[in-house]
Amino acid sequence: MKFFADTADTAEIAALAATGLLDGVTTNPSLIHKSGRNFLEVIREIAQLTPGPVSAEVVASTTAEMLREAAVLRKLGENICIKLPLTMDGLTACKALADDGVMVNVTLCFSANQALLAAKAGAAFISPFVGRLDDIGYDGMALIEDIKIIYDNYAFDTEILVASVRHPVHVLQAAKLGADVATMPPSVIRALALHPLTDKGLATFADDWAKTGQSIV
Ligand code: G3P
Repeated sequence: MKFFADTADTAEIAALAATGLLDGVTTNPSLIHKSGRNFLEVIREIAQLTPGPVSAEVVASTTAEMLREAAVLRKLGENICIKLPLTMDGLTACKALADDGVMVNVTLCFSANQALLAAKAGAAFISPFVGRLDDIGYDGMALIEDIKIIYDNYAFDTEILVASVRHPVHVLQAAKLGADVATMPPSVIRALALHPLTDKGLATFADDWAKTGQSIV
C-alpha cells in the first residue's frame, strides 16, 4: 500500500520524505489556502521534495479551461499528477489527458458509479472521500469495497486512492480491502507508528539496560 501525504506543508513533506516511507503527495485548493503559499511555487517545491506523484488540482469548471490549467501545472515537475473533479467536464478532460500519457487523479468521488466512469476515462487514480461520507452518516469504507470489486471485475488499472482519511482505523480498513493508496494528513501517518505498549516496553528496556552498565558503541 502506498502512503501519500495530504498536505501542502513543505516542512511536513520534507520530514516524511526523509523517513523513506512517503510515496507521494496530494493537495487541493483548501490545503493550498492553508499553506498561505503561492500555488505554482509551492507545487514546484513539493514536486522536488517528493519521490512519487504530486497531485495538483485544477480550479476551472469547463473541459477547455481545465486542459489549459493542466498544461501550466504539468510544467511544475515530471511527477505532477493532474487532479480533476468528478464531473462530466472533468472526465472529458481526464480522457484527453490520459490519452496523452498524463497521470490524472479524479477527485471528489462519492459513488462507485463515479469511480467506474473515472476508470473508463483512464484515470491513474480515483479519490473516494471516506471521511466526508462518514461525516454525513454513510459508510465511506463500503464505497472502497464496492470500487475494489468493480475494478477487479474489469481489471482496470486505475488505483484506488483512499482520501479524506481522518484516523488510523481508516488506514487499517483500507489496507484490509486492498486499496492501492491512502492519502493522509501527516499526523495520521505518524499516528500509525504509535502504540502505548511500544512506549512502555521501551521504557522498561531502557531502565534494565542502564542497570547493566554496558554500552554498545
Ligand atoms: O485531498 C482530498 C481529501 O483528502 C480531503 O480530506 O479531510 O478535507 O475531507 P478532508
